[in-house]
Order: sequence, then C-alpha cells, then structure tokens
Amino acid sequence: MIKKAILPVAGLGTRFLPASKSIPKEMVTVVDRPAIEYVVKEAVAAGIKQIILVTHSSKASIENYFDRNFELETTLEKKNKIDLLNEITKIVPEDVSIISVRQPQPLGLGHAVLCAKDVIGSDDFAVLLPDVLVKERSSENDLAQMVARFSQTNAAQIMVEAVPRELVDQYGIVDVDQTPQMGESVVMKGIVEKPSIDKAPSNLSVIGRYVLPAKIMNILETTPKGAGNEIQLTDAIATLQSSDVVEAFRMQGETFDCGSKLGYLKAVLHYGIEHPKLGQEFKKMIEELNI
Ligand code: G1P
Repeated sequence: MIKKAILPVAGLGTRFLPASKSIPKEMVTVVDRPAIEYVVKEAVAAGIKQIILVTHSSKASIENYFDRNFELETTLEKKNKIDLLNEITKIVPEDVSIISVRQPQPLGLGHAVLCAKDVIGSDDFAVLLPDVLVKERSSENDLAQMVARFSQTNAAQIMVEAVPRELVDQYGIVDVDQTPQMGESVVMKGIVEKPSIDKAPSNLSVIGRYVLPAKIMNILETTPKGAGNEIQLTDAIATLQSSDVVEAFRMQGETFDCGSKLGYLKAVLHYGIEHPKLGQEFKKMIEELNI
C-alpha cells in the first residue's frame, strides 16, 4: 500500500503576491485554517502515514503549523478552552508523521520530487501539489481510489479532469484513446507539459495528484530540463510510460486552484458555506448581499 506522500511547498507563490510576500501561499487561510491543512487531510484520508514536505527556508511556518506549540497549549489548558486545545493538537492523527526536506534551488517540480528520494527509498508514493484543493462530491476520496487501483494493477495513476480547450497550455495534458468516465482509469498513451492549444493531444489536464512507483526517482535523476527550462515531473512520467503502464484517472471531486486569486476566492465561498459551524450564517450573509 502507498503510505508516503510528497508535498512540494518550496515554490515562492508569485501568482499570489502580495499575500505571499511574507507568508507562504500554503499558509493563506481558507475559512479558518491554512490551505495546506486541506491537502494534508486529503492525503491522510487516502491512507498516507508519512507526509514529506519539500520546502524552502522561508517556509518554516508550515512545519510549525504541524508541530506542537507548548506555550499555546498550556495557555488554552489554563483557560479551560478544551475545544480549541483539541483542535490544535489533533490536526493530523498520531500515527501520521510530517517531515521535511529542502529544495535548495528552484529547478522545477521534477527536481522538487527528486529532493525526497532518500526518504522515499524503495517505496512507491503519492504526490500532491498543494496549490490545488480537491473537494470531494461524495464520501469517496479520489486519491484513495487511485491508491487502491495502483495496489491492484501496479500502474502509475495520474489524476486528470477536463478543462476548456483554451486553457490546455497551463497544464500537463494526457493522451488517451478514450476519455475515461469519472472515477475510471484508462491507459495513457502520452503526456506533455503545457502544450500549445493546437498541439494538445486532449483537454484532459493533470490536476496535481499522482501515485508513482519508486523507480521514477531514477528516471528523474536523468531527466533533462524541459518546459520553462525546469526539470518536469511530466517528462519523467512520459519516460516511465514508454516502458510501464501508466493510467489517467478521471477525478470525481471539484478542484480549486488556490495558487490563483479567483480560484482562492471560489474555494473560500465553497468551503465557507459547508463549514460545520460557520456555514449557515455565511450562506445567509451571501444571500443578503443580494447581487
Ligand atoms: C504543475 C504540473 C502540471 C500540472 C499542474 C497542475 O504545473 O507541472 O503538469 O498540470 O501543476 O496544477 P505548475 O502549475 O506548477 O506550473
């Protein structure tokens, strides 16, 4: 089973300036918790037990968030604020560990994943890109389905969703014979990073959730720079696909690109109205805007 997940968080978040000037974009709050918490919880819900943050010196607040805070806990305890105390000490279950490695240079997503090679060792693993939040439409977690499919078939799983044709140059795009149904995996014939609209093999975009075999680390070591002059995970997956079966899994959930300002606002609205404590009043506030 897949127990390890890599979360690359070293990026400087230029699309989210000025908010990300002095705090990591992953720490910007969506309703009442940082965006990264949703992604970590998604991984945990899929059975992940070890989260590996690939991070940067300016992003220590992410590690601090998942660490204990003795002073704060003592103060909350003294004030008998037990609900809050429970909330801040139980962000992840006790059997889940969060560790970090550094990405010393911004050489691309493929390079960020490669930075976790020693921690991954010979284990197969998941990758979750924290810019994208995935809100499940049902109790079934898409990543958990990818993990289950990988365990049955040993085929790498790449999560995809259909995007408008004019946006294909912003994503990795997969080539398949037949568009999969939602919740289905199909064999991938190819994958290309940010193709021009006329060269895109489909409109199925890579969403930023992957289940990959350990051996992709060896491929990444020899993957040359690609699109944007960066070492691309997409290019390593293309190499893997020439020797092994790789599948595109079509997601069922809804995505929010929190790396972009409008995507972030949309996420706040959706997660806000579904918040167990604030949701009802928040919905009423939106209705009262009467726009
Ligand atoms: C990365 C991947 C791309 C994927 C995208 C999803 O690109 O390289 O294949 O479609 O994430 O968000 P980035 O957005 O980091 O440029």
